[in-house]
Amino acid sequence: MRTIELNTGIQIPVIGSGTNTFGKENKAYQGAINGDTTELAAAIKAGYRHFDTAISYRNEAVVGKAIKESGLDRSEFFITSKIPGTSEYTKDAAAVKSAVESSVSALQTETIDLYLIHHPWDNLEEIAAVWAVLETYVDHGIIKAIGVSNFQEKELAYLLDNSRIKPAVNQVESHPGKWNDGIIGYSLAHHVVPEAWGPLSRISDNAKEQLAAIGAHHQKSWSQVVLRYQIERGVVVIPKSHAAEHQAVNLALFDFSLTEEEKDIIKGL
Ligand SMILES: NC(=O)c1ccc[n+]([C@@H]2O[C@H](COP(=O)([O-])OP(=O)(O)OC[C@H]3O[C@@H](n4cnc5c(N)ncnc54)[C@H](OP(=O)(O)O)[C@@H]3O)[C@@H](O)[C@H]2O)c1
Repeated sequence: MRTIELNTGIQIPVIGSGTNTFGKENKAYQGAINGDTTELAAAIKAGYRHFDTAISYRNEAVVGKAIKESGLDRSEFFITSKIPGTSEYTKDAAAVKSAVESSVSALQTETIDLYLIHHPWDNLEEIAAVWAVLETYVDHGIIKAIGVSNFQEKELAYLLDNSRIKPAVNQVESHPGKWNDGIIGYSLAHHVVPEAWGPLSRISDNAKEQLAAIGAHHQKSWSQVVLRYQIERGVVVIPKSHAAEHQAVNLALFDFSLTEEEKDIIKGL
């Protein structure tokens, strides 16, 4: 798997699997947790080693269970989780520590590869205070890299200026119709690796047709074209599928490349 080096020296696989509806009743985000590891097991079988979960998804324990059940060594996996940007988890250092420790425990792991602040809030000094607690976990080797999610330029700039360990990643929504090129460009310019959430969501039929037409030149699908586009511009992708066939398709991105003309068309979608 191709990787990008993060600022603490660890490697992030450029493609991971989203998980936000895995292990839940009716494959629904709000569904009750049922502990079902079917999709995670299929993803591991297909070759995924990078998983994106969060305290808010309530399924960290399902991800941890699937990794244990795989029989593979923990060191083969790259696990991302996230602390919610709400006062219950961020109000003081003890709340932040409790969140990190609950993630470590639920994931049945000793270390977490990447831990993100899930959403910013309007008090930038408070965000920096939460960040300072997360930095201590990097110091102790319990978290390997720390980053943010859904941060816009103002919030990311503040943290870049007010942190000892700079954010390694900014995970933001990005797909045709909502590329979020401004914050992705800002992140890249400041050596913060952008990650695209929802990379296959909310794409119009017209955009899918144009992506499929480009894919036809490479014997690839619309989903493969859009994921490849993101990777080629330095954006990590975390597509999610409940279908083993789609999971495999979404990993088969490394035997073709897009022309400059194709990339211009995709950029305009
Ligand atoms: N940081 C944040 O605030 C935030 C917010 C949202 C999401 N996320 C993360 O980002 C991950 C991905 O986003 P997402 O789950 O919203 O959606 P997504 O990956 O953009 O899209 C999922 C949808 O695409 C379909 N799909 C997947 N592969 C396909 C293929 N090859 N061909 C056709 N359809 C395909 C899936 O259907 P099938 O199941 O039928 O394949 C599903 O309906 C989440 O799981 C979560 O980990 C983060």
